[in-house]
Amino acid sequence: MAVAIEFDKLTKEYDGVLAVDELSASIESGRITGFLGPNGAGKSTALRCLLGLAKPTSGSALIEGSTYGSLLKPLQRVGAVIDSAGFHGSLSAQRNLLIICAAAEIPDLRVMEVLTMVDLEDSVNKKVKEFSLGMKQRLSLAAALLSDPDILILDEPANGLDPIGIAWLRDLLRSLAQSGKTVLVSSHQLAEMQNSVDDVLVINKGKLIVAGQIDEVRQGQSLEEAFLRYVQR
Ligand SMILES: Nc1ncnc2c1ncn2[C@@H]1O[C@H](COP(=O)(O)OP(=O)(O)OP(=O)(O)O)[C@@H](O)[C@H]1O
Ligand SMILES: [Mg+2]
Repeated sequence: MAVAIEFDKLTKEYDGVLAVDELSASIESGRITGFLGPNGAGKSTALRCLLGLAKPTSGSALIEGSTYGSLLKPLQRVGAVIDSAGFHGSLSAQRNLLIICAAAEIPDLRVMEVLTMVDLEDSVNKKVKEFSLGMKQRLSLAAALLSDPDILILDEPANGLDPIGIAWLRDLLRSLAQSGKTVLVSSHQLAEMQNSVDDVLVINKGKLIVAGQIDEVRQGQSLEEAFLRYVQR
């Protein structure tokens, strides 16, 4: 199996706090990997290092063997939902995505396609500052899908989504993986993750706890039971 994403002794320290502590793990391509860990475990920090939004103190976080910053056309190869900031509140959803298209050399036609995919086609002209939490989350997902990237890095993408949105997200992740794309997705919704992911990566206090195929990690327990067993011992 080809490796799409690799953390190699990734360490990130903030003012004496080790947010990520020598994390080594490989994410296989064409699979959905659930990135799990308690609040403050270091998931977002590791994903930010992967996307070049935070600089590792030591070690590395690589996408197909390169740092995000040295990838050729990174916006076309990697889609990310990292937080719903980053949009211009006073501009419409459509205008925000058109700005990304211009930066990433993506045809403007794609904007309506992705807004329809995330069920925002009736809100294309609404200003983003008037969006609800779930609508902003859907817009973030639309932005991540704009370039039809091979690799998706999603930090709690289900945040704020209603049950219809969560079911839609599950189907979307599945169809992306079926078409050979790689998805690394963090979440606290373990019951949902149990039905959605192929592999699991669990960290706690910045350190790797367990990684592997979901059935190996669960060992017959629910993902929630297994998670609690791993992080509480
Ligand atoms: N910019 C920052 N400056 C200082 N400390 C930070 C910063 N970002 C994260 N941290 C610290 O790093 C640790 C890991 O935080 P991180 O946000 O990566 O955790 P997380 O696993 O994403 O948690 P959650 O599940 O709550 O989203 C925490 O102790 C946090 O306080
Ligand atoms: Mg986080």
